[in-house]
Amino acid sequence: MNHPVLEAWSSNRAFIFAVTGAAVGLGNIWRFPYLTGENGGSVFLLLYLFFMLVIGLPIMIAEIGLGRAGRAGPMQALMRLAQGAGASLRWRYLAVFGGLTLFLILSFYSMVSGWSLAYLVKSVDGSLAQQSPEVIAGAFGQLMSNPVLMLLCHTLFLLLTLGVVAAGVNQGLERLNTYLMPLLYLLLLLLAAYAVTTPGFAEAMRYLFLPDFNAVSWKVVLDAMGQAFFTLAVGACALMAYGAYMPEDQSLPRAAVVVALLDVGVALLAGIAIFALVFSHQLEPTSGPGLMFITLPIAFSELPFSHVLSLGFFLLLLLATWTSSINLAEPLVAMLKDRGWSRLRGTAVIGLGVWILGSLAALSFNVMAEVYPLGFLGGVFAEKNLFGLLTSIPTDIFLPLGGLLIAIFAVYIVPVADIRAAIGGSETFYLLWRRMTAKLAIPLTGLLLLTSVLTFWGVL
Ligand code: PHE
Repeated sequence: MNHPVLEAWSSNRAFIFAVTGAAVGLGNIWRFPYLTGENGGSVFLLLYLFFMLVIGLPIMIAEIGLGRAGRAGPMQALMRLAQGAGASLRWRYLAVFGGLTLFLILSFYSMVSGWSLAYLVKSVDGSLAQQSPEVIAGAFGQLMSNPVLMLLCHTLFLLLTLGVVAAGVNQGLERLNTYLMPLLYLLLLLLAAYAVTTPGFAEAMRYLFLPDFNAVSWKVVLDAMGQAFFTLAVGACALMAYGAYMPEDQSLPRAAVVVALLDVGVALLAGIAIFALVFSHQLEPTSGPGLMFITLPIAFSELPFSHVLSLGFFLLLLLATWTSSINLAEPLVAMLKDRGWSRLRGTAVIGLGVWILGSLAALSFNVMAEVYPLGFLGGVFAEKNLFGLLTSIPTDIFLPLGGLLIAIFAVYIVPVADIRAAIGGSETFYLLWRRMTAKLAIPLTGLLLLTSVLTFWGVL
């Protein structure tokens, strides 16, 4: 096989950077803050951190470990491992289910990432510099009410992603990421440092870190679990390919811990910066998907060199979302390639599908805002337009379900010796992983998934 992502990682650091490239993206900077706001702050944050530790991290190790044990792309790795264990070869369809999940996620991912292209232009033309918060909030509203512009942004971003995937130069971009990612951290640190000086900082800290248990509900719990899967890019077999060519001597648990810490770090820095701004300007924490696109430009407009900061931020955001979206698209194209399609044809077909679905999702903010495609199912479905469906079902149900099956396969199906070798590292780390996955991650994810489905149907 000839997957670009399957080439050997030359060093432990290269592996960590590549996986971080898949993990850090919209999930950290855009989705985490707005979900935190919609779910009342601290309790969501605490639950998210808890789920990262007891579910996300162990399943991430399982997922990469399976790729490492199977030494191939997801579908083949699963098949080989199932064969070796004398289990049903149907386990390979887990990769197909993962593919479906990735496809659905990519459609809204590309559309939202396109917004940063519009904001790049705004950074260059200075239309948001030194403007009042009202004007900046209004600019987001204008973008959302302009379907043509939204479609244009979605199309451009998708072409950027597909271009790299079609050319098979994913690794080149990941290497670029290695150099530019630290800059993203630096910029977020700067924004968080600025946040400390704003009048809303103390309230933001209270909001984020002082638990208010009145805010607990099933929705908060389930959103937090979905977010843990989404942000780590876990549950859709996308990370399996990375395991296949991990350096022999690298400890998987250690690498996964580093990736998870880098990932949480970005989310926390973004969250602190964004909520300090929210409380400094009496904005609504619950303002939804626009939260980041409104608050951060307000911060830039108040800071010196606003043009440069804003341009730098949206460029780095674009890069972070670009590497993540390539990771969403690549496994799909690789799967078609394994069926004998050419890379170009696979990319074109996936691209067309994603383009159509993403374009319809863009209309959820304007002409199709009140169209509820699955409304006939009742329950929560009756209130979700296409964008609402795409940002909840694949992330909060499909990823956890895929993750659950991945964990079960790794713990109960694959021979212990194989998975032990694939995970590497010390015996203590391995036993800790095994125990956490079997005793915590699997039962908890199963239970929450069940709850999730019942909540969706309005039973709970
Ligand atoms: N983890 C990415 C983000 O936070 C999204 C993603 C999910 C990427 C699944 C690949 C696979 O933006």
